[in-house]
Amino acid sequence: MSLFPPNGPEEKGSRFLIIGAIGFIGQFIAEASLASGQSTYILSRAAAPCPSKAKAIKAFEDQGAILVHGSIDDQEFMEKTLKEHKIDTVISAVGGGNLIDQLILIRAIKAVGNVKRLLPSEFGHDVDRADPVEPGLTMYNEKRRVRRLIEESKIPYTYICCNSIASWPYYDNTHPSEVLPPLDHFQIYGDGNVKAYFVAGPDIGKFTIKAAEDIRTLNKIVHFRPTCNFLNMNELSCLWEKKIGRTLPRVMVSEDDLLAAAQENIIPQSIVASFTHDIFIKGCQINFSIDGPNEIEVSSLYPDEPFQTMEECFNEIVGKIE
Ligand SMILES: NC(=O)c1ccc[n+]([C@@H]2O[C@H](COP(=O)([O-])OP(=O)(O)OC[C@H]3O[C@@H](n4cnc5c(N)ncnc54)[C@H](OP(=O)(O)O)[C@@H]3O)[C@@H](O)[C@H]2O)c1
Repeated sequence: MSLFPPNGPEEKGSRFLIIGAIGFIGQFIAEASLASGQSTYILSRAAAPCPSKAKAIKAFEDQGAILVHGSIDDQEFMEKTLKEHKIDTVISAVGGGNLIDQLILIRAIKAVGNVKRLLPSEFGHDVDRADPVEPGLTMYNEKRRVRRLIEESKIPYTYICCNSIASWPYYDNTHPSEVLPPLDHFQIYGDGNVKAYFVAGPDIGKFTIKAAEDIRTLNKIVHFRPTCNFLNMNELSCLWEKKIGRTLPRVMVSEDDLLAAAQENIIPQSIVASFTHDIFIKGCQINFSIDGPNEIEVSSLYPDEPFQTMEECFNEIVGKIE
């Protein structure tokens, strides 16, 4: 059941439906959608959300978002929602535990036929290329299953591969930007020399919304590789030391340590350990070039749009500590 007038909001452009808008990644996408002036619908499962989620929903509604209550694993509800509100673009940011719910969402999108683009819940690595150990592999297999159904169903899509969120990459932390970088010692994965790409949450939102409407990204994988944020653990440590004005001891976390943490199979921490191994030992973000016919790097699409640098992200954090 929806809580808004049947005609929806005043028309501004495309009608975006953001699923998981009060989740970690989804908030950045909903914020960017509203900032870009799109008619923004947000889907929330909970009819009576907890106070912090209710506050986040209210903040979005105050900015013009239209709230819809329901779950994507209810096909009838989804078909009705997509049709009733003439949704053009669906962006899903459901979490790792609900990826398979998207199979029903895809069936609903296929049935209604009015959706011009689907961005499924990706927002990490290219899951057809990366090959983490378990339990990360199970999550990637689910994301691969979602991709295959979208393609078989001939639904127009864009896959966002934004690499790592700009923050300290703790190997046992699911939502890293909520935790400060180290203030006592660094844990360095392997020799600390394998590089990764770090992207600030607001930039994930901004470039996702741009790509969602861009004809050049239709049926493509969009990789985020900002050269300003291409860093290894040793470089990241030095940058943070510069910000806090002191040096910290370094402790090596070996490949075996990461594999052991993954093997413990504590969810979600072991999933993060398996991804950390894939990124900082195997180099899953950098061991391929972007040259396939169905893939594109985001900076080549928007060369004049800057990315927030890791240095700026650290400045913000230091500002908060102070
Ligand atoms: N690149 C990175 O560093 C990075 C970091 C984190 C996540 N990710 C990726 O980003 C994506 C989102 O993850 P997240 O951590 O942001 O997720 P999250 O914080 O757990 O949030 C997921 C959101 O999806 C909603 N949801 C789940 N199942 C739903 C359903 N059936 N119907 C409607 N809404 C549903 C949840 O609603 P409720 O509030 O009702 O539960 C919640 O708001 C995932 O693909 C994940 O792998 C990438």
